[in-house]
Amino acid sequence: MTAQHEARPTLTTEAGAPLADNQNTETAGPGGPLLVQDQQLFEKLAHFNRERIPERIVHARGGGAYGTFTLTRDVSQWTRARFMSEVGKQTETFLRMSTVAGSLGSADAVRDPRGFALKFYTEEGNYDLVGNNTPVFFIKDASKFPDFIHTQKRDPYTGSQEADNVWDFWGLSPESTHQVTWLFGDRGIPASFRNMNGYSSHTYQWNNAQGEVFWVKYHFKTNQGIKNLTAEEAAVLAGTDPDSHQRDLREAIERGEFPSWTVQVQIMPAGDAATYRFNPFDLTKVWPHADYPPIEIGKLELNRNPDNVFAEVEQSIFSPAHFVPGIGPSPDKMLQGRLFAYADAHRYRVGVNADHLPVNSPHATESRTYGRDGALYDGRHNRAKNYEPNSFGGPAQTDQPLWSTTAVTGFTGNHAAPTHAEDNDFVQAGDLYRLMSQDEKDRLVTNLANGISGVSPDRDDIVDRAIGNFSHADADLGRRLELAVKELRG
Ligand code: HEM
Repeated sequence: MTAQHEARPTLTTEAGAPLADNQNTETAGPGGPLLVQDQQLFEKLAHFNRERIPERIVHARGGGAYGTFTLTRDVSQWTRARFMSEVGKQTETFLRMSTVAGSLGSADAVRDPRGFALKFYTEEGNYDLVGNNTPVFFIKDASKFPDFIHTQKRDPYTGSQEADNVWDFWGLSPESTHQVTWLFGDRGIPASFRNMNGYSSHTYQWNNAQGEVFWVKYHFKTNQGIKNLTAEEAAVLAGTDPDSHQRDLREAIERGEFPSWTVQVQIMPAGDAATYRFNPFDLTKVWPHADYPPIEIGKLELNRNPDNVFAEVEQSIFSPAHFVPGIGPSPDKMLQGRLFAYADAHRYRVGVNADHLPVNSPHATESRTYGRDGALYDGRHNRAKNYEPNSFGGPAQTDQPLWSTTAVTGFTGNHAAPTHAEDNDFVQAGDLYRLMSQDEKDRLVTNLANGISGVSPDRDDIVDRAIGNFSHADADLGRRLELAVKELRG
């Protein structure tokens, strides 16, 4: 045995038998064909063929890290969630940040919302907050989501993303005007994952020990400062360093520069919801800070890189339906659809036991269920009974719902989301435009015009509808956009 062999552990087959040769396949004679008895070759090729799992249907490309959430303010008047019960309390977290439309191998520096999916490993189970870096979204009914995403992905005929599809859908979905104004503004291309905010976007329910209900929106304000790329800077970076966001995050943590976010909430007492000037469950609207000022409650810090990207990032799963006592859903029609969609995606993408992989399982408690078996079941229940009710001391229900009940009225039906006194599809898009500096307005008009002018020359109707929405938001924006698009399209 050579010195090199002595120093290294023995290479084995998947079954642990020592392997003699990992370089030369067994053949019938030195120049002859391969032998079927060389099962090591087949094992190696077969395992390799199965390395990929389906990529996420959206948010395929992302990076993540572990961290700590520290509560800095007593919030027990609003929620009884135990991980938020004491000032100074710390909870382990895992945050995955992502782009939305691109596939797994796409570039990071693109104009696209960024996902901000946060898992709190609490002592009452995992709580997932699956948000974005934008406070609003393009649509407000879950039934429109697959159609919307189809327009962001590849056209069935051309195999490319098509400006016709993107602007056709947005033009025909005026509720998207607010988010599109946001996306084509300066914050549409963050410089890195560290330099952007996170938002729950949706409204959620908090309930306290007395069962009182509050509606809440979460904000994660970056302590690294907001930094963005211009369209020109991003085009260069996407071409030269497609992994820019993921590398930046990993290297910062390796250097000990732990990125952090200040956590704030906007709280609305349940009684305000019916008469608030905007529908508080409409995901295309913010709650202006003057109405419900953000309250600082904690700090999120990322401080540990995953050791294995596939195991811990690709196989990580987040579900808006993962609640803990004291937190629940709101009647937001998008959120309600998401409560189904994620776990379904996880079962397809990772498998029925996805919840039990190390990154996904509870870290501060354990799961105790009567669910059993399925692909890659690890036998964690040992001999415990697999049915309920039982008289063998198996786990029992608490009789305490995680969230409080809310009143409902009316008849079933395919209802549009209710509108409140000041709701329309354009008011907040216009407010956002009017808040921008002159330079920001100029860049917004240029970015929108560049995008819209990509529509096919014979489809002016798509262009007109798209511009029409911005005109409704702000007459000046509409006028400037019309001129800029005309110049580009000739
Ligand atoms: C009805 C509307 C929506 C549906 C049906 C939907 C569905 C999905 C699905 C199926 C995935 C892939 C999950 C996986 O394979 O693990 C996903 C990922 C994601 N979605 Fe949504 N989505 C919707 C709206 C939203 C909204 C409004 C937000 C943000 C506020 C959002 C944020 C995310 C994030 C951050 C991820 C990536 C999670 C991760 O890092 O694993 N989605 N969505």
